[in-house]
Amino acid sequence: MRTGDKFAGMHELLVIGIGAGDPDHVTVQAIKAMNRADVFFVIGKGAEKQELVDLRTRILAEHVTGDHRIVEITDPPRDRTPSDYEGVVDDWHERRAAVFEEQFAQADGVGAILVWGDPSLYDSTLRIVERVLARGVVRFDYSVIPGITSVQTLAAQHRIVLNRIGEPVHVTTGRRLAADPDVTDDTVVMLDAHTTFTQVPGDDVDIWWGAYLGTADETLVAGNLRAVEEDIVRTRAELRERHGWIMDTYLLRRTR
Ligand SMILES: C[S@@+](CC[C@H](N)C(=O)[O-])C[C@H]1O[C@@H](n2cnc3c(N)ncnc32)[C@H](O)[C@@H]1O
Repeated sequence: MRTGDKFAGMHELLVIGIGAGDPDHVTVQAIKAMNRADVFFVIGKGAEKQELVDLRTRILAEHVTGDHRIVEITDPPRDRTPSDYEGVVDDWHERRAAVFEEQFAQADGVGAILVWGDPSLYDSTLRIVERVLARGVVRFDYSVIPGITSVQTLAAQHRIVLNRIGEPVHVTTGRRLAADPDVTDDTVVMLDAHTTFTQVPGDDVDIWWGAYLGTADETLVAGNLRAVEEDIVRTRAELRERHGWIMDTYLLRRTR
């Protein structure tokens, strides 16, 4: 907000990708950006696992040398099983925008939000920021510092190229795969809570699966889908039980 010719409130926001779990994923650009920030907004999801919160705290402690404040923004609750999915998500995003707006209005200087992986991939931070600006109550510039995604980490750890020569790659969610499991293009699946790969038909599909990528608990399985799917389902259930949460990503490729 401007008062007279002097800026009051937050005048700049940095949306910083921090990588998929390995603290060494944090780029030099991200470190420089973090050190320009006066205030870090941390989104407390309640359900977010302590390890993920700890990782962010560790990254800040390791890389940020100057004075800074940390402000927790509590996410408003969301109906996870709505009948009108898009309407409910839209309403939730508006409520989130209002909560962010309130915190941005109270902050001074340069703000920063640390985003898991990269902000361009299945993350709502940029949409929320645009919504906050569209509401017209607070004004600030913002920029995005890219981070290493879980998809890049999956490819690196399995030492694979995501696409075949000159071929496309489809990135989707477990929910979308369940609706159309007969994959043809090479398909990266994220946000899959239900081991949907078991629904993919045929014995000519390979899978490269990774959980907790980039962390000390990283687990990888690769092979023909029919040969390894039971192993992945069992391993996934055991890991989820042990840690209380799991994040996994996989690539499916029909061998034809
Ligand atoms: C909300 S999306 C965020 C993606 C993130 N922006 C990125 O660039 O990777 C969360 C999904 O990303 C994937 N994911 C994120 N971090 C992961 C990790 N360390 N290991 C495996 N999958 C991960 C999982 O599919 C998870 O369900």
